[in-house]
Amino acid sequence: MAKQDETEDRLDRILTLELARVTEAAAVAAARLRGHGDEKQADQAAVDAMRTELNRLPINGKVVIGEGERDEAPMLYIGEEVGTRKGPAVDIALDPLEGTTICAKNQPNSIAVIAMAERGNLLYAPDVYMDKIAIGPGYPAGVIDIDATPSDNLAALAKAKGVAVQDLTACIMDRPRHARLIEEVRATGAAIRLIGDGDVAGVIDTTDPEQTGIDIYIGIGGAPEGVLAAAALRCIGGQMQGRLILDTQEKRDRAAKMGVTEPDKAYTMEEMAKGDVIFSATGVTDGNMLEGVRFSRNYIGTHTVVMRSSTHTVREIKARHHDLSKFS
Ligand code: FBP
Repeated sequence: MAKQDETEDRLDRILTLELARVTEAAAVAAARLRGHGDEKQADQAAVDAMRTELNRLPINGKVVIGEGERDEAPMLYIGEEVGTRKGPAVDIALDPLEGTTICAKNQPNSIAVIAMAERGNLLYAPDVYMDKIAIGPGYPAGVIDIDATPSDNLAALAKAKGVAVQDLTACIMDRPRHARLIEEVRATGAAIRLIGDGDVAGVIDTTDPEQTGIDIYIGIGGAPEGVLAAAALRCIGGQMQGRLILDTQEKRDRAAKMGVTEPDKAYTMEEMAKGDVIFSATGVTDGNMLEGVRFSRNYIGTHTVVMRSSTHTVREIKARHHDLSKFS
């Protein structure tokens, strides 16, 4: 028990505020390239900055959701070990620049994002698509069901919220694969917020409908982004389910290699991000919940949300960085 407490204290001390530094550094590096039209360059800058900061942390970290397989991603690849190696064994899910296209076009909602949990507690998801559904906190368990129709899910959510279906807004990625889903949701009378990219932010937006205007996220996006979003919701509260889309033998083999034993399983949020989870996101461009990076004459301004599942503490950190050398 004493050992458990010791570990928890360490996780708390290290992984909350320290994590903010990691996403701040990535966000600032990417923000310098906002609107430059070069996704790769912005992503690389964010990766470099995040990796440098991560390697300063006293952790024995392993990237489980990262920039890709080792042969396709020279840095922050899946399996890469990060940190000083003198500290707790943690798994890390990261996306140094979530919404590379958004950043390249300087449009809303690109973020730098990371989640950590004790070793073995994050779903090792391959880089495939995931079908997702998510709502924020404050509803009874079981309101949404990934296997129910969109109209049943919206009706159940409207009832739980005490509003008409027409008063709900669903966030959906603007993709041809969602044509039928969009049609079905529109037929219910609910509003849709179509997003071009960035569904980690799309899911997180459901946690504060008053501010974001979004009640529910539905549709298919990246599986790595699904695990990151589940980690965030574990901390803030809410409900989420996700099912990997393993529609070829090659994808099923890849998933099996990563330990996925039930390819058709609908994962709950708790199964995607177990135990004590810590999450940090910093705005790169202005978004619904986070402001983007500000470059002023004497300082750089960042806006970060850092949170922890075991306490449900959600800290918003607006920082003014006067020591600009650390971002050079
Ligand atoms: P990147 O940051 O890698 O560009 O991903 C952006 C994103 O929009 C994710 O938020 C989303 O989960 C995924 O791409 C959707 O994939 P696709 O663009 O293939 O529909």
